[in-house]
Amino acid sequence: MRYINVCLALAAAVLAVFASTGKFAFPPKHLFTGLLRFAAFTAESDTVLMTDDTSDHNVLQRRKKKPDRKVHNICDDFPPDVPPPNTNTTTYLCVDSHGCCNFTTVQSAVDAVGNYSSNRTVIWINSGFYYEKVIVAKTKPNITFQGQGYMSTAIAWNDTAASANGTFNSGSVQVFATNFIAQNISFMNVAPIPKPGAMDAQAVAVRVSGDEAAFWGCGFFGAQDTLHDDKGRHYFKECFIQGSIDFIFGNGRSLYENCQLISMANPVPLGKRSVDGSVTAQGRVTKDENTGFSFVNCSIGGSGRIWLGRAWRPYSRAVFAFTNMSDIIAPEGWNNFNDPTREQTVFYGEYNCTGSGANMTMRAPFGRRLNDTDVSPFLNTSFIDGDVWLQPLTS
Ligand SMILES: *[C@@H]1O[C@H](CO)[C@@H](O)[C@H](O)[C@H]1NC(C)=O
Ligand SMILES: *[C@@H]1O[C@H](CO)[C@@H](O)[C@H](O)[C@H]1NC(C)=O
Ligand SMILES: *[C@@H]1O[C@H](CO)[C@@H](O)[C@H](O)[C@H]1NC(C)=O
Ligand SMILES: *[C@@H]1O[C@H](CO)[C@@H](O)[C@H](O)[C@H]1NC(C)=O
Ligand SMILES: *[C@@H]1O[C@H](CO)[C@@H](O)[C@H](O)[C@H]1NC(C)=O
Ligand SMILES: *[C@@H]1O[C@H](CO)[C@@H](O)[C@H](O)[C@H]1NC(C)=O
Ligand SMILES: *[C@@H]1O[C@H](CO)[C@@H](O)[C@H](O)[C@H]1NC(C)=O
Ligand SMILES: *[C@@H]1O[C@H](CO)[C@@H](O)[C@H](O)[C@H]1NC(C)=O
Ligand SMILES: *[C@@H]1O[C@H](CO)[C@@H](O)[C@H](O)[C@H]1NC(C)=O
Ligand SMILES: *[C@@H]1O[C@H](CO)[C@@H](O)[C@H](O)[C@H]1NC(C)=O
Ligand SMILES: *[C@@H]1O[C@H](CO)[C@@H](O)[C@H](O)[C@H]1NC(C)=O
Ligand SMILES: *[C@@H]1O[C@H](CO)[C@@H](O)[C@H](O)[C@H]1NC(C)=O
Repeated sequence: MRYINVCLALAAAVLAVFASTGKFAFPPKHLFTGLLRFAAFTAESDTVLMTDDTSDHNVLQRRKKKPDRKVHNICDDFPPDVPPPNTNTTTYLCVDSHGCCNFTTVQSAVDAVGNYSSNRTVIWINSGFYYEKVIVAKTKPNITFQGQGYMSTAIAWNDTAASANGTFNSGSVQVFATNFIAQNISFMNVAPIPKPGAMDAQAVAVRVSGDEAAFWGCGFFGAQDTLHDDKGRHYFKECFIQGSIDFIFGNGRSLYENCQLISMANPVPLGKRSVDGSVTAQGRVTKDENTGFSFVNCSIGGSGRIWLGRAWRPYSRAVFAFTNMSDIIAPEGWNNFNDPTREQTVFYGEYNCTGSGANMTMRAPFGRRLNDTDVSPFLNTSFIDGDVWLQPLTS
């Protein structure tokens, strides 16, 4: 029964997260519906399958009310061809929260991967909600997390800067290994949304600290500091990224293609000019570092009034190209993090963006309108040396 309660409590926690954002439309709601269904399914199945816990009156009553109910094995629907057979260069491990294959937690599968294996290990993760903190240590390169869709497969935890001894340790999933890949899975931090002015409430969904990481069709759900793009070269394609303040932050060198960036900052009352969020807080410290975030063909929507970026570190670098921006973007676009000297050193650029938020008439003077020459290093995977390491999507 404890397991059921955990699932329901989690679904409730996730509901709280999404409900408090008000008119949050498409993906979270669906993800959330999936989670609720998952929790309900778990509860029902356990009710039927439970035979040893006769002390639980609720269960007995429910059993009596539905005497004709067919008792079926929860694993009957498990796909027969999973996991695929290992090949010479790829090992497959399988995770299912109901125990229908070898591992019930993602971390236990990661732990079973050989140290410093030069072959790839694909961890196939069945639909479901995995409430656990997952660490992919430096000793585990070449791991793939293969989910069943970012709205049906999620790893979530609820640490905050306060509970984890710092924002950097709060990530629900933390990747320190090289050559990490994730496909069709979500990363969530379901800690309560911080009240305005709250201290140490930052709650990271994923921290990516390994070089050469790729995320395809993934979801990132949180509020403040959702995606810690910490260090190394990273690729994000067709991802859904939700947050409020600095929701993509860190000192990585990353290309984001065709991603949806969704703000859940509080709506700003009509007539007020305040800004209550930022898409990025890129952390380039010196001019010699080749780091920065490039967004190509993305879209920005959601609620609140937010900046495209703020200068978390002096040489902060971010570029938005061919990106559609809704009117939630503050007219000035960019922010110096209360340090005017940073206006001389940041690199903030926009190129061929569309939508009412992309109107550059009122932009801060240190936000640049890039020309074809300026923008060309940022437009494709050469920005992250993709030709050296980025593999085409496998399925
Ligand atoms: C990797 O695959 C090769 C080729 O099959 C095999 O010889 C080697 O033992 C594998 N290495 C590991 C660490 O599993
Ligand atoms: C896999 O390894 C076996 C035995 O080492 C070898 O016979 C086979 O040709 C290899 N297959 C591939 C696809 O490399
Ligand atoms: C579970 O592990 C065993 C032993 O490694 C392996 O033979 C089997 O194929 C695995 N089954 C699944 C469903 O992963
Ligand atoms: C990896 O190394 C650690 C310690 O260095 C050890 O505890 C662990 O058992 C190793 N894992 C595997 C799968 O070999
Ligand atoms: C495994 O990781 C090493 C170190 O990052 C890398 O050189 C190698 O190409 C990777 N192998 C595969 C199969 O991805
Ligand atoms: C995380 O959730 C658990 C269970 O609801 C709760 O006991 C714990 O206090 C939460 N942690 C934080 C940091 O909110
Ligand atoms: C918390 O982090 C600080 C550095 O940020 C470190 O000095 C301290 O030892 C950490 N405390 C614990 C309990 O890990
Ligand atoms: C831009 O993104 C949209 C939405 O993800 C996609 O349908 C379209 O194909 C992308 N265009 C290019 C040139 O990649
Ligand atoms: C992008 O905008 C520039 C003007 O800033 C224009 O010259 C160029 O043709 C545009 N390029 C594309 C591919 O739309
Ligand atoms: C851009 O903003 C300026 C000033 O707010 C306004 O005058 C102009 O009409 C806007 N341009 C477009 C294309 O909306
Ligand atoms: C593009 O802008 C840069 C300054 O940002 C300038 O040096 C360069 O001449 C411009 N190139 C073109 C083709 O306009
Ligand atoms: C991911 O999901 C999309 C949409 O459901 C599907 O088209 C694609 O094949 C999946 N890719 C992988 C690698 O799982």
